[in-house]
Amino acid sequence: MEAAGGEGDVAAELRQRLAAGGQDHVLRFWPELDGAARRALAAELCRMDVAEINRFFRRARGDGGGAAAAAAAAGLDARMEPVPRDVLGSASRDRGLVPRWESRGLAEIAASRVAALLLAGGQGTRLGVPYPKGMCDVGLPSRKTLFHLQAQRLRRLQQMAEEQHGTPCHIPWYIMTSGRTMESTKEFFQKHRYFGLKKENVIFFQQGMLPALGFDGKILLEEKGKIAMAPDGNGGLYRALGSHGIMDDMERRGVRSVHVYCVDNILVKVADPRFIGFCLEKGADCGAKVVEKTNPTEPVGVVCRVDGVYQVVEYSEISLGTAQQRGPDGRLLFNAGNIANHYFTTAFLKDVVNIYEPQLQHHVAEKKIPHVDITTGQLVQPEKPNGIKMEKFVFDIFQFSKKFVVYEVLREDEFSPLKNADSQNGKDNPTTARHALMSLHHCWVLNAGGHFVDENGTRIPAIPRLKDANDLPIQCEISPLVSYGGEGLEQLVKDREFRTPLIIDEDGIHELVNNGV
Ligand code: UD1
Repeated sequence: MEAAGGEGDVAAELRQRLAAGGQDHVLRFWPELDGAARRALAAELCRMDVAEINRFFRRARGDGGGAAAAAAAAGLDARMEPVPRDVLGSASRDRGLVPRWESRGLAEIAASRVAALLLAGGQGTRLGVPYPKGMCDVGLPSRKTLFHLQAQRLRRLQQMAEEQHGTPCHIPWYIMTSGRTMESTKEFFQKHRYFGLKKENVIFFQQGMLPALGFDGKILLEEKGKIAMAPDGNGGLYRALGSHGIMDDMERRGVRSVHVYCVDNILVKVADPRFIGFCLEKGADCGAKVVEKTNPTEPVGVVCRVDGVYQVVEYSEISLGTAQQRGPDGRLLFNAGNIANHYFTTAFLKDVVNIYEPQLQHHVAEKKIPHVDITTGQLVQPEKPNGIKMEKFVFDIFQFSKKFVVYEVLREDEFSPLKNADSQNGKDNPTTARHALMSLHHCWVLNAGGHFVDENGTRIPAIPRLKDANDLPIQCEISPLVSYGGEGLEQLVKDREFRTPLIIDEDGIHELVNNGV
């Protein structure tokens, strides 16, 4: 009786608070719920700041949703300017400077002043897997997952920095998860013994969640006793950094530069010393890595200036007309394609967390959100968008930077995202990711003086990105523990001939045909 009475009190108090915010419909099915469901719902609602959610909704709808968004986007066209040359560094055009940037970055890593921060709180809806994207195995010969590749790249970088500078160092790896991905991500890392990294240098923390809302701003129910919650966008990072004491942790460890990146790019150069070195040389507090966007409808945001302030205009927010504009050289005018690799100094991040975060606006995505109909209690699977999710974006802090820079790299070297399932379309799926990695590694072997032969022993022409008779890339995979970015391969492959599939890992070379020519 007491428990029921207690629950009754909680419900009454909750109802009052929710009613004040016009959201008490979420208790509509309370009488039907059993004790456990009531407790779970009450706990969820107690964590929720209804007044704040209503405020977010009003602000987001007022400034960035539906018709307002269209109007704002229309206005954007006239206000957008491409990135000026003086803030741009290029891994290809400025090739002569790259070694200097790299050694600067490696020195910083050697001093343990660099951290990597992985954004892994997304739900991977488009990919449609029931587990976090980082756990995806795209079918490489090694069957390594995205998390595995990233961990090994970090290990190799630490080793390179140690070898060059003679001091032991570590790159702390902060991993932001969400309520949807935390447990499975942690379990995965435990199961794989942190892929050889020190456990204390892999730090998990969780971003916040927000309820999905109907177009009228009413909170939607996923089940009768469950709110439809979704992560608050990768820009939820900044609130989470503060609320989980991550900035203090970085300070304790002496971290000064942070490489923030998205989980889904199989080619990601985690804590890339060249990018870090470039940003340090320029004295930047904030930087973005980009690739040239060549197709107007490619789903990448573009880095640009709006009213003189740097920002990313997301692919969902740019008009087709603007995306199609071309400059005098025939290239897209807005061609700085955001590959979600950002550089921040910890000093800048601290200001963001302490001062600017509340100024960040939510972006509104109109979605089909399955929900329980409040009047009938039936589960509805909508066929057209019926509500919104509100998200902050990680790059929305560029506007607060005092010195912003952009670093351009080649797509084939650094960008192949995993967004879709193989069945969906021919783009950005496990097959394209796998092929991109093997093509790159094929190039590394050619550049290091190795050769490939076909099944008859005839040399395959040394044309990078060459496909075989089945239009597949040359099967070649090099462990990140052997090479981070193509370095150190001459002694292994120069003047040798290989039959495919070729795998080079810490145990040696596999499928090697001849030892020399
Ligand atoms: C993102 C970029 C886009 C860029 C593209 C390149 C953002 C907002 N957009 O788009 O400009 O051109 O990548 O591939 O960054 N995530 C969280 N929490 C969330 C939501 C997402 O951590 O609440 C993480 C995901 O796990 C993923 C990353 O953020 O690692 C990107 O999320 P996703 O929704 O896939 O972004 P895109 O729309 O592909």
